[in-house]
Amino acid sequence: TWSMDDFIEEQIQAIRAKVGDKKVLLGLSGGVDSSVVGVLLHRAIGDQLVSIFVDHGLLRKNEAGEVMEALGGKFGLNIIKVDAQDRFLDKLAGVSDPEQKRKIIGNEFIQVFDEEATKLDGIDFLAQGTLYTDVIESGTDTAQTIKSHHNVGGLPEDMQFQLIEPLNTLFKDEVRELGEKLGIPHALVWRQPFPGPGLGIRVLGDITEGKLEIVRESDAILREEVAKHGLEDEIWQYFTVLTGVRSVGVMGDIRTYDYTIAIRAITSVDGMTAEFARIPWDVLNEISRRIVNEVDHINRVVYDITAKPPATVEWE
Ligand code: XMP
Repeated sequence: TWSMDDFIEEQIQAIRAKVGDKKVLLGLSGGVDSSVVGVLLHRAIGDQLVSIFVDHGLLRKNEAGEVMEALGGKFGLNIIKVDAQDRFLDKLAGVSDPEQKRKIIGNEFIQVFDEEATKLDGIDFLAQGTLYTDVIESGTDTAQTIKSHHNVGGLPEDMQFQLIEPLNTLFKDEVRELGEKLGIPHALVWRQPFPGPGLGIRVLGDITEGKLEIVRESDAILREEVAKHGLEDEIWQYFTVLTGVRSVGVMGDIRTYDYTIAIRAITSVDGMTAEFARIPWDVLNEISRRIVNEVDHINRVVYDITAKPPATVEWE
């Protein structure tokens, strides 16, 4: 019978045999797949693994710090953190088309990763968190014609690496089991899906640091409340979206004219179809109050009650 402990042992042996005394490069995204690959490889080959974590400035509140602390601190991975926020913001300035934004973020990501990788000497291998489902799906990209899904870890074009893909026989739930076995923090292993373009597709239209701040803060409040009420396991994905809509409100006798935040929370099995999550009214009420009170420039909160299809999960 198949056991996760055997799998770990086999993979470690296989990785050591393949890598020898060479070096391996890994792009960490903060997601579960690349984290598991990182910890597994680190266990197998220690500091022969070099990881690059690109902070594109489109991450959630505290996310970069949490990743660095968990993987760099607790597990001792050698992580090069690249603070590329300004580069991404510059490239994105004034761009409001969703697919254009995705392209810019994807290209810039590869470029930053490429630049960092070029600085490193003697890397022969590139590790990737490819899953079994990615292997099956590659070739039939119907989903990509709807939205060009950019996944972190695109190969620098002019670099010659051999690939190491230790998860490519596993399904997502097995990767999570593996992550737990490797001692990766529960919150990281069970992290909700987060798109490669990050908050960049949750600020509708053009992106500014100020707008990112609004999504980041409102999203943090939503996540706090969902956790506080023990709803994390019931909701597949939940986040806030800064709509471009401004409307009239009143705060302490003063008329306001400010932005509307939308809450998107869904139940789903695989993200292909979804229903809006039935968050209790009282919880929604609390979230709404907190957002308007604590986040500047928000005077209205709406709840997205659309299924997928016809809507998509993300608003862009
Ligand atoms: P949609 O919006 O297509 O989302 O219904 C389905 C799932 O995919 C995620 N998503 C993305 N993931 N790059 C990604 O890596 C993207 O460009 C992207 N767009 C959507 C979304 O968060 C949801 O989990």
